[in-house]
Amino acid sequence: MDRYCVIGHPVEHSRSPWIHARFAALTGQALDYGRRLAPLDGFAASVQAWRDEVREAGDRAGGCNITVPFKFDAAALATDRTPRAELARAVNTLRFEADGRILGDNTDGAGLVNDIQGNAGRPLAGADLLLIGAGGASAGVLGPLLAAGVRRLVLCNRTEDKARALVDRHAALAGAHGVALQACGLDAVAGDYDVVVNATASSLAGGGVPVPARVLRPGALAVDMMYGPAAAGFLAWAEAHGAQARDGLGMLVEQAAEAFALWRGVRPPAARVLQELRDLLNAPRRP
Ligand code: ATR
Repeated sequence: MDRYCVIGHPVEHSRSPWIHARFAALTGQALDYGRRLAPLDGFAASVQAWRDEVREAGDRAGGCNITVPFKFDAAALATDRTPRAELARAVNTLRFEADGRILGDNTDGAGLVNDIQGNAGRPLAGADLLLIGAGGASAGVLGPLLAAGVRRLVLCNRTEDKARALVDRHAALAGAHGVALQACGLDAVAGDYDVVVNATASSLAGGGVPVPARVLRPGALAVDMMYGPAAAGFLAWAEAHGAQARDGLGMLVEQAAEAFALWRGVRPPAARVLQELRDLLNAPRRP
């Protein structure tokens, strides 16, 4: 049996085992996907302990998903990293190779792009996009958003220097795709946008939405990378100002689909599983 798991701290809340079990059932892949709690100072040891257990049971450890706060530790553990993981400096998917090497990938950005374009039906090519936040969540998605061919991407953050550093790191990629990429502080956001993505922890911190409603062009899509109560404030704000509001559940399922494809070479029916998950969570909010 090929085995996989999600490693985090905390990890009990993770929907990944459910999502991957559905992917496996719907694609006819024989695999087992579990969850593993790692101590805050023991990520690499936990990965090794899990791999040892799997081997002793006579199974094969195929890979792991990594959730907060270990995405940087996972990048360090990988012996090889995909270009998008290199740019993000964070890894959410490990694949254990037969020769002992460990491939690190970051599927978060592809998950967001696929959700916006495939599930929400909004093409990103030529769009003006505002990305709010310059932490790990933002770093994970910036590269794929640029590669999707947006016309203009403004990265705004409470701490402007962090936005600037992230933009500098992505300047070559933006140039290669002809994207006008700029950084600014929250109080200096100018203009309006087709797509606004919230990658901050401001809802969690109870801080409200950190940008004015005029950033929402009529009919704009407003996406929060979180879901559930953590996204509620941003989504209510977006709807109150006429935008199409979308939570991060689609991104969650799509990033999992990208990991599943990397491991199994088979693309699972993500849109179907997203609908099943919404039904399960009784969250009929998103179309
Ligand atoms: P994550 O990995 O989820 O991105 P992080 O690296 O701690 O977490 O980043 C959190 C992001 O939310 C940052 O962009 C942070 O802004 P700063 O860089 O200025 O700290 C942003 N953030 C958190 N609380 C916020 C608030 N109340 N208002 C605006 N931005 C906030």
